[in-house]
Amino acid sequence: MIEQDSRLSQLAADLNTDLVEGLETSGKLTTRAWGAAFDDVPRHLFAPRFTLPDNLGGMVLGIADGTRPEEWLNAVYHDEALLTIFDEREMVTTSCSAPSAVAIMLESSQAAEGDTVLEIGTGTGWTAGLLSHRLGPDAVTSVDIDPRCVREARERLDHLGFAPTLAVADGYLGYPTRAQYDRIIATTSLRKVPPAWLTQVRPGGTILADMRGDFAGNLARLTVSEDGSASGHFLRERVNFMPLRSNKEEHVRELSELASRAVSAPGQQRRTSLAPAALRTWDFAFLAQLSMPETRAGRVRIDGGPMYYCLTDPRSESWARVDADTDDTEHEVTQGGDRRLWDELETAHELWTRLNQPSPADFAITVSAAGEQAVSLPDADRQWALSF
Ligand SMILES: C[S@@+](CC[C@H](N)C(=O)[O-])C[C@H]1O[C@@H](n2cnc3c(N)ncnc32)[C@H](O)[C@@H]1O
Repeated sequence: MIEQDSRLSQLAADLNTDLVEGLETSGKLTTRAWGAAFDDVPRHLFAPRFTLPDNLGGMVLGIADGTRPEEWLNAVYHDEALLTIFDEREMVTTSCSAPSAVAIMLESSQAAEGDTVLEIGTGTGWTAGLLSHRLGPDAVTSVDIDPRCVREARERLDHLGFAPTLAVADGYLGYPTRAQYDRIIATTSLRKVPPAWLTQVRPGGTILADMRGDFAGNLARLTVSEDGSASGHFLRERVNFMPLRSNKEEHVRELSELASRAVSAPGQQRRTSLAPAALRTWDFAFLAQLSMPETRAGRVRIDGGPMYYCLTDPRSESWARVDADTDDTEHEVTQGGDRRLWDELETAHELWTRLNQPSPADFAITVSAAGEQAVSLPDADRQWALSF
């Protein structure tokens, strides 16, 4: 660790000060008590080794790796997620979330002194440390599905003198042992609000989660009612967490055989003026997400062939592919199966235009006590079943 090296300790402190000032200046950190937590719970203790995201070069940096420690510290105090654990397919399964995302979560959680919090997704333990600093460790429970995360987080938090309750658990089921909580905060993204959470938050308490499908999503905050239902809004702030992995979550499926079929099968062809790039407009992508239940989306290239943007619906085995390599104003679309997914996307685009291009913060979200989930656009009197 770098505590023995006064020059590196000073560098870490200076870089952290700059980071916190930047978050405060940009308005992401507005409560001084959270700023104080960032000041005193140094991120480098939670990220001794990581891989930088591809956009920053994908390098592996670590204090014990013979890399230059200055380079490691500079990356730690940069506003980026740091990738810390990968699975056997080299897919990232744990990261230290970007400081701005953590700041947005803490501020948006409305958690304050006296509140108890359940965090879903302990990861490196950094967020649990920040929560412990402000609320006191006794008020903090944090669960992760990966035992290594929990073990390492416990060691790091111990080092700071914090002993929140950490447990290996599937966060989809919450953590009933310590319920009820004032707040549940998920640092993973979710397709649905897990029904178990509604009973584990006290009436008047809140759930904060990044509700996200393959097209888009946004942070949503819901307040739980006496009758066990919950309602709230999507927020203006945007974060992008990795998805919750859970056996219990029915909707987690990957682009698989169906995607391969989508890339190669013969189907019905026509031209479209709606380019895949339209989905880069976040506000449209959000409405498309709502309008197209169960739809998976992604770019697929097989064996060096052309790049396609593919939509698939595993349930009806429907698919659509559009060439994604060109900047042409017209694209060729090929579709198969019972649903015409590109037609649905075009209809969603017309609807979004007709509704004056609403953005996620215009939408409300409700979950009934029985677990039925809906998103609505109150100004336009429209409602969709939540089926991200
Ligand atoms: C983005 S990381 C969380 C970062 C963390 N808040 C931090 O401060 O470092 C997401 C974490 O969620 C965990 N996770 C994924 N699915 C989960 C599940 N079903 N239950 C609990 N944790 C889960 C992952 O193992 C991963 O560590």
